[in-house]
Amino acid sequence: MGGLARLEYRGYDSAGIALADKEGLTVLKAVGKLANLDEALSDAAPQDAVAGIGHTRWATHGRPTRRNAHPHTSTDGRFALVHNGIIENADLLRAELRKTGVTFASDTDTEVVVHLIQRAYDHEELLEWDGEVPGCEGETARAAQRLVAALRSVTARLQGTYTLLVLSSEAPGVILAARRSSPLVVGLGEDENFLASDALAFVEHTTRALEIDQDQVALVTGKGVVVIGHDGRVLPLKEYEVDFASDRATKGSWPTFMEKEIHEQPRGVADTLADRMDALGRLALDEVRIPESLLRSIDKIIIVGCGTASYAGQVARYAIEHWCRIPVEVELSSEFRYRDPVVTEKTLIVAISQSGETMDTIQAIRHAQEQGAKVVAVVNTPGSTISRESDAVLLTHAGPEIAVASTKAFTCQVTACFILGLYLAQVRGNKYGDEIVDYMDKLEDVPAKIQEVLNRGENVRHFAHTMKDASSVIYLGRHVGFPVALEGALKLKEICYIHAEGFAAGELKHGPIALVDEGQPVIVIVPTPRRLELHNKVLANIQEVRARGAHTIVIAEDGDHSVDEFADVVFRVPPVPTLYAPLLTVIPLQIFACELAKVKGLDVDQPRNLAKSVTVE
Ligand code: M6R
Repeated sequence: MGGLARLEYRGYDSAGIALADKEGLTVLKAVGKLANLDEALSDAAPQDAVAGIGHTRWATHGRPTRRNAHPHTSTDGRFALVHNGIIENADLLRAELRKTGVTFASDTDTEVVVHLIQRAYDHEELLEWDGEVPGCEGETARAAQRLVAALRSVTARLQGTYTLLVLSSEAPGVILAARRSSPLVVGLGEDENFLASDALAFVEHTTRALEIDQDQVALVTGKGVVVIGHDGRVLPLKEYEVDFASDRATKGSWPTFMEKEIHEQPRGVADTLADRMDALGRLALDEVRIPESLLRSIDKIIIVGCGTASYAGQVARYAIEHWCRIPVEVELSSEFRYRDPVVTEKTLIVAISQSGETMDTIQAIRHAQEQGAKVVAVVNTPGSTISRESDAVLLTHAGPEIAVASTKAFTCQVTACFILGLYLAQVRGNKYGDEIVDYMDKLEDVPAKIQEVLNRGENVRHFAHTMKDASSVIYLGRHVGFPVALEGALKLKEICYIHAEGFAAGELKHGPIALVDEGQPVIVIVPTPRRLELHNKVLANIQEVRARGAHTIVIAEDGDHSVDEFADVVFRVPPVPTLYAPLLTVIPLQIFACELAKVKGLDVDQPRNLAKSVTVE
């Protein structure tokens, strides 16, 4: 239950658990948050269980009801199964099973798999698997081997994406797992082992972990782990050390994860910047092992990501184009491959993802790699699918992000993209060494400035209390302020359930200004007055909305008093180079959304309908 609680942020519309003891399987399920399952479990948990599987759900097929909650069981109750992902040929398999007399107890795609496993296990002609079952012998070992064979024969028929965990009363101390495209890690303990979709689930017990690759099956008992390749052969174990301390994944004294994570940004950005320069003062990205000659030959960069990650990519575009003079496109991962993009061996893909498990982004990089492009991943989770499948990985060091609304991931992604942009400028000779050092020095000043903005947070929190009845908020920005406007609006939609839109400030008069009438809150991100032309344009945009009755909330640089007469509320940020401003201007928007959600009595960390990592397309 502790492990499930740590992963609850990934899906929380229902939860369930199956436990195995000598008597058979006990399955308990509850709709809603994990606390409801905890309650059910306190009355009915078997005392002598030796293995268990659990699941928190984010509904794809079938409403979030008890009957659709995982684990799903075979008709005879001997097999239980949890699943992440989508079985794309479920309809076909369901029809086939119905013909053999199976009646279904849920509306999920998952349930077909457990019935197929029962059928395969009981089938006389099942191809045997005869590998070792750690700590088991006799009947139990034979049952476990049979289960491996059954699972392998079933997964061969599945289309789509899955991580599956299977428990059976035939071999009570054994858990089997299989994965295709969805995440799965194994944790290695002392006389206990763990399986999870994220190492966070078991990091308080062990930091030793195993990678499980595509189309592999893992057999896990308390005594050991066996990894089986697609051809049935036992594979060497690929062990690694999980590198975050378990306390970084707890709230500590903060009321919510989101508040904790907002305040962790100075550290996250500083950690992301740390140790990037070599003794000669050159940027040295050890993780980017793409040959420099290849980086010099690229003629286009395409940045892919979803939600907040894509907005980080939009900020990065301004910097990379400016520094490297390479065309940069930013594309939502979910749209990328469907528009038949022009991708060649000279295209560099930058895939941004906090979790490293977002299915849309995984599919985007696979599509690009098929066309011969190289992929650099900017990810926060070492060992994740995106980091493993990419040609190079630039890690953000935000630490685990638990709140569904991304905050520190955004600022760390922007920072990592700046580092990548400067690295490319160095490799391609667009900037001199001293210029790169200068850019890096100024970037290294940013964490302290983020702290200054955080220290001023009380003003923003106070303002949030005045906005509790707002039903719509408009965000405006220009240049790098535009993606910040989009990100601010996303935060408000996501956790406050308030309709919010971010617009390019100059675009407003081409339509959206019709939305503005008396009292409409409009939040404007104002660029530094040192970029006078840009600044004056935004000032004019503020006046346009104000003239139509808008309530204007302005984020402006310290000392920029030209905004005072047009702003009902002003939040200040310290001066930084124009391109770095998003790292500061986004902070008040994060604090605002977080505080407003609290004022409205909403669940800040686990907003409705959402899940932290979206592992289905
Ligand atoms: O894990 P990823 O960075 O790939 O996730 C991408 C988006 O799902 C994510 O940024 C989402 O938009 C956030 N919840 C927004 O706050």
